Amino acid sequence: MKSETVTITDNSTGKTIECPIHKGTYGAPVIDTASLYKELGMFTIDPGFTTTASCRSAITYLDGEQGVLLHRGYPIEQLANESSFLEVSYLLLHGELPTATEFVEYENQIKNYNNVHEHLMRFFNGYRYDAHPMSIMVGVTGAMASFYHETTNVKNSEDRMRIAHRLIAKMPNIGSKVYKHGIGEPFIYPDNSLGYIENLMNMMFAVPSQPFELHPKAVAALDQLMILHADHEQNASTSTVRLAGSSEANPLAAISAGISTLWGKAHGGANEAVLEMLEEIGDVKNIPKFIARAKDKEDSYRLMGFGHRVYKNFDPRATIISKACHEVLDDMDQNSELRPLMQIAMELEKIALEDEYFIQRKLYPNVDFYSGIILRALSIPTNMFTVFFAMARSAGWIANWLEMMEDPDFRIGRPRQLYIGSERRDYVAMDKRG
Ligand code: CMC
Repeated sequence: MKSETVTITDNSTGKTIECPIHKGTYGAPVIDTASLYKELGMFTIDPGFTTTASCRSAITYLDGEQGVLLHRGYPIEQLANESSFLEVSYLLLHGELPTATEFVEYENQIKNYNNVHEHLMRFFNGYRYDAHPMSIMVGVTGAMASFYHETTNVKNSEDRMRIAHRLIAKMPNIGSKVYKHGIGEPFIYPDNSLGYIENLMNMMFAVPSQPFELHPKAVAALDQLMILHADHEQNASTSTVRLAGSSEANPLAAISAGISTLWGKAHGGANEAVLEMLEEIGDVKNIPKFIARAKDKEDSYRLMGFGHRVYKNFDPRATIISKACHEVLDDMDQNSELRPLMQIAMELEKIALEDEYFIQRKLYPNVDFYSGIILRALSIPTNMFTVFFAMARSAGWIANWLEMMEDPDFRIGRPRQLYIGSERRDYVAMDKRG
């Protein structure tokens, strides 16, 4: 049988090498170019990693042409409608769905870890009341590394799983404190009589002076939203966590690096940007003006919540969220301030999907297009949207970190470059420079 390789020939020397082709369970095969430098003295270059696989992974599969997303083999539609965020986090970390006993043990462990050290709370005081929530998330999550540094030996599998569980347990606590700091309300401690999402909502919205009533539909909507954001293969923030963690840095410091990457509006920050865009559009009649701006090559304006590096078909998460959005709005008061925003969103989607510019470039609504409307419906302020994304994505980040640390091929990530700077030259003293 013909071996599966790709032949690369350096035409200047005539030297040839055979690069093996590796096939995964699904998806495009990959060409293994690891011997390229050794054999031909060359690197590859692929700005933006458009065709470069950075690792082997068994966690998440996505097919951007077909609009398919699987976590550990399970379709996102089934997980979103039948599972819970906590169960999905177990699946991502451990590779299999838990049995009933395993789930109880896991939930108890998460509850056991859901408090943060009292000293960590002092870090919040260093931030101005109007600091962007994501900047606090970056700082406080990084600071948390110092509380578990001595007890986390990244070479020890038990330590690794313990820190992963700690992260899942503490993220709602930190995220809710970020919110409380901004609005000047006292921090609320976790309540272990509540489930994971209920606890998160309680820590965000309860005040000590009166009981807080949790609405089951709101809890279910947030749970689903968290599932939809839990993991998404080797995106920019996950790749950041892997690269930062590859130096054997403290995993919580690596997660803090991932939060920084998520913040940008080309990535997780898009959910905040979508809501701002819908508010700026303000009325359905203004949509054509904004569409024209997005298409104008002289204008850097983009429609937020549209387009994706991998999905060249509908983002399956957007389909689920758009349905959930309608359900949440159906339950709401007819005069809700969100109805006009939803109307603008729906009309924008319709017009963009019929427009040749968007059709040709396969620009469809992504997960962030509708998620902001749900978060706003749950009374979550716009600048907190990406914090929710970060709390959910922590499960995927830490699952990827665990997988990387266990990979027999594990080594520090160290990309190469094509140097295009000055040739060697001699230093000139300041008084002799022209
Ligand atoms: N509005 C208008 N034009 C767009 C948009 C958009 N939202 N997105 C891409 N394009 C155009 C772009 O100008 C380019 O046109 P041309 O070929 O004529 O130069 C073409 O589509 C390809 O764009 P690209 O920038 O090469 O694509 P990319 O894969 O590098 O970027 C993206 C992907 C998500 C960063 C980009 O589509 C974008 O900026 N979208 C808006 C921000 C957004 O919604 N981000 C959330 C992404 S999904 C969730 C997440 O990752 O957190």
